[in-house]
Amino acid sequence: MEKKPRGPPTNLSLSSSSSLLSFSLSSSPLSSPPMAILLVLFFFVAAIPSVPPVLAAPASSTAVSFTPQDNFLIDSGSVANTTHSDGRVFISDQTFGKYYSSQGRDVLITVPSADVPSRIYLSARVFIQEAVYTFHMARPGWHWIRLHFFAFNNTEFILENAKFSVMTDSLVLLHEFTIDASATNTTKWFFKEYLVNVTAERLSLKFVPVKGAPAFVNAIEVVSAPDILVTDIGSTLFPVAQYNGLVTQSYQTVYRLNVGGPQLTSRNDTLGRTWTSDGQYLQPKVSGNNVSVAPSVIKYPEGGSPLIAPQSVYASAVEMATANVADPNFNVTWNLEIDLSYQYLIRLHFCDIISKTLDDLYFNVYINGKMAISGLDLSTLTGGLATAYYKDFVVNSTMISTPLSIQIGPMNQGTGAKNAIINGLEVLKMNNSVGSLDGEYGVDGRSLGGVNKGTVAAVGFAMMFGAFVGLGAMAFKWQKRPQDWQKRNSFSSWLLPLHAGDTSFMSSKNSLGSRKSQFFSSTTGLGRYFSFAELSEATKNWDANAVIGVGGFGNVYIGEIDDGATKVAVKRGNPQSEQGINEFQTEIQILSKLRHRHLVSLIGYCDENTEMILVYEFMSNGPLRDHLYGKDLPSLTWKQRLEICIGAARGLHYLHTGAAQGIIHRDVKTTNILLDDNFIAKMADFGLSKDAPTGSEQHVSTAVKGSFGYLDPEYFRKQQLTDKSDVYSFGVVLFEVLCARPALNPALPREQVNLAEWGMQWKRKGLLEKIIDPHLIGNINLESMKKFAEAAEKCLADYGVDRPTMGDVLWNLEYALQLQEASSQGKAEDENKALAATAAPAPAPISTPDNHPNALPEQSRTPKEVQAVDEHSGTAMFAQFAALNGR
Ligand SMILES: *[C@@H]1O[C@H](CO)[C@@H](O)[C@H](O)[C@H]1NC(C)=O
Ligand SMILES: *[C@@H]1O[C@H](CO)[C@@H](O)[C@H](O)[C@H]1NC(C)=O
Ligand SMILES: *[C@@H]1O[C@H](CO)[C@@H](O)[C@H](O)[C@H]1NC(C)=O
Ligand SMILES: *[C@@H]1O[C@H](CO)[C@@H](O)[C@H](O)[C@H]1NC(C)=O
Repeated sequence: MEKKPRGPPTNLSLSSSSSLLSFSLSSSPLSSPPMAILLVLFFFVAAIPSVPPVLAAPASSTAVSFTPQDNFLIDSGSVANTTHSDGRVFISDQTFGKYYSSQGRDVLITVPSADVPSRIYLSARVFIQEAVYTFHMARPGWHWIRLHFFAFNNTEFILENAKFSVMTDSLVLLHEFTIDASATNTTKWFFKEYLVNVTAERLSLKFVPVKGAPAFVNAIEVVSAPDILVTDIGSTLFPVAQYNGLVTQSYQTVYRLNVGGPQLTSRNDTLGRTWTSDGQYLQPKVSGNNVSVAPSVIKYPEGGSPLIAPQSVYASAVEMATANVADPNFNVTWNLEIDLSYQYLIRLHFCDIISKTLDDLYFNVYINGKMAISGLDLSTLTGGLATAYYKDFVVNSTMISTPLSIQIGPMNQGTGAKNAIINGLEVLKMNNSVGSLDGEYGVDGRSLGGVNKGTVAAVGFAMMFGAFVGLGAMAFKWQKRPQDWQKRNSFSSWLLPLHAGDTSFMSSKNSLGSRKSQFFSSTTGLGRYFSFAELSEATKNWDANAVIGVGGFGNVYIGEIDDGATKVAVKRGNPQSEQGINEFQTEIQILSKLRHRHLVSLIGYCDENTEMILVYEFMSNGPLRDHLYGKDLPSLTWKQRLEICIGAARGLHYLHTGAAQGIIHRDVKTTNILLDDNFIAKMADFGLSKDAPTGSEQHVSTAVKGSFGYLDPEYFRKQQLTDKSDVYSFGVVLFEVLCARPALNPALPREQVNLAEWGMQWKRKGLLEKIIDPHLIGNINLESMKKFAEAAEKCLADYGVDRPTMGDVLWNLEYALQLQEASSQGKAEDENKALAATAAPAPAPISTPDNHPNALPEQSRTPKEVQAVDEHSGTAMFAQFAALNGR
């Protein structure tokens, strides 16, 4: 059970979203019994020689400073920038979060003074709902993430009751974390430090409060760390083998001790690290003796660097207390409590600051009672006295017990001093196989133990929502596949080879699968596997009456699975269609990377006999368009429409900003906004989606795709895609929602054909109410409509740069909703009457039958005809569209 979530991704924008992702769904089974931990007695040690075996003359010691390329220092909740006691300036997060404070979902709190080491602890941002900080990285590679907390007293929240999770896109940092009340001494400040190899251009930090409890943070650091901090390859000692892959791990600092010396803070360490003193872990204390020299005498060997650990760490050590006694024969021991469900990288720092001559000191080092280094010979390794050396060990914690014990003891043989020393000690927790540094669940709810057979039913639901993590990795592989993979005309050909070396794939399919439904192991992440027979039965043999949608790829059917218990939407692709394969692939890639309340969820798939079938959650209320016009469905209220637009905007906002690399939907339209039982809107159909441009590139060049009537004129002109193209399309959707007519209606007089143009004309005249859906008249608050129309107008700006982000749009829509709600609580009567009055004598537009949806009686057509008409009108409109937008 090993699957690799990708390293986290990352300029800084802050957004807050009320949706809880699938996290809330998948976290519910967390209370189920802890997954079995394999108690295999197996000791696994990797040693990484940190210095070249051939020794050159030690480089002389110079204080090296490191300038981090990414250096995000955020003082959360502070209205001003704050200078840390170490001199670094932490920026107020107000600068970045212009939208979220106004939503009232998170609150700034401050305390005037407290016994804390830095002013960054005196303010905090408290989140009542999920909130995300997004950082745009200048450079991939190692980064520190430090989260600072101080549960200070304030009038609004009891921060000691906080309970929350913090995660990046691929890594859980804290899981349902609570402040340990027992550990609170006089001061309650602390920080958590992580070392993460960031491989994407974006890193997001998501704070997810547990229902009813607040989440908070006082300060955040996301800072580049030098590459030399972690080297990839080492050799293991038990058994002797090579250990690879340290650079793909993420780490959390559990202990960092300046052995034999005082605490060093970020002031004393150019990388901002804190080294605590070791005294409390040395047992018994009398067995060790502190020794120290002036830091300036410490040298680094060639290839070494003060960035690994500063001189002041090597300048102090603990030696055997009775080193001067005739026959010292004991070990000096440090005991460190650890959580046994993780692997650890243990880094031991040595520097011979006690010997008078070379080749005098040899000693043994043990980890949990096992020999780690026999006869450590610093003279040979470093070629000098007072020269820094370190060694890394990876311990597989399924074997070691807690406390972790680090021991040094004399070599009882030969000549030389009977002594032993150690100067520094770091213990870094490594992420587990589901990508977590805290708890057994990955970012999307995959659990370490996989699916427990006895509880398949119970967790099946959660799995559907959480089982796709592996695909994140798959998506990555796809990008690296040979150019010709698209030519292999089979759905399964691009799915299955990825698992060729993964035995758990087949076995979990067989052992977990019942006759009807088979779950892939959560590690392969494909969700539920369906047999073709099962889906044929579910769709009544692909009954034409079960068709609920059509597209270039094939049809979408409604189906019932699990003996009718669950309704699903089944998308059956045409395997002959290359476009189909591409779109299916894109869809899987996107949906597997993303989980969001406002994005439609993928449940599983079938690839039997070259079939390409995807199974989705069924959205019982169908596309938004059906509720606006064309079908005789009850008219949606203005509030419902606002809520739907807000939901869709949230989904898009998440696509643009929430993923490792932003994603452009490319086909935003009312038929791709689906409504569930409760009229919650979810974005669907990611077949055309593209990853957003990264880094310095501002756009993706691509052939123009999308739907006419919704196409961004700039994209159309320049064939350059940005997320602002989606914003444009969303502007059209907003007008469609307000006016309840299609984006393009070729049957109308020329000036009315294109809704975007038509709407903008009336908006500019300030007479938009003349063309709104007649059902809304008298039921819509004028101010709310104004705000809404303003948002639509901004979305439709000619140039992408002038358009708002989806986050801005979202804020405007929420504001429009507030205005509507405030007015429906009584005082709006007059305004409505006023609106009704102005609208009543309005001229033709409202009542012209042509202008109205029913002009296109789609419900009477078969799906094929619908598609044909859509395509035809698209082509027909092509020239006209270009003309319309060529202005
Ligand atoms: C904080 O510092 C940043 C960057 O130096 C600057 O852009 C911003 O205006 C400052 N904010 C305040 C409130 O001083
Ligand atoms: C980060 O990880 C990637 C592989 O995931 C690796 O290729 C890269 O070298 C690592 N970066 C550093 C600085 O170690
Ligand atoms: C030091 O510890 C190791 C491992 O626990 C043990 O094997 C060894 O005998 C100890 N040495 C002495 C002198 O006690
Ligand atoms: C930690 O995550 C990485 C991918 O980010 C993965 O390759 C690695 O296997 C995980 N660590 C463990 C111990 O499973």
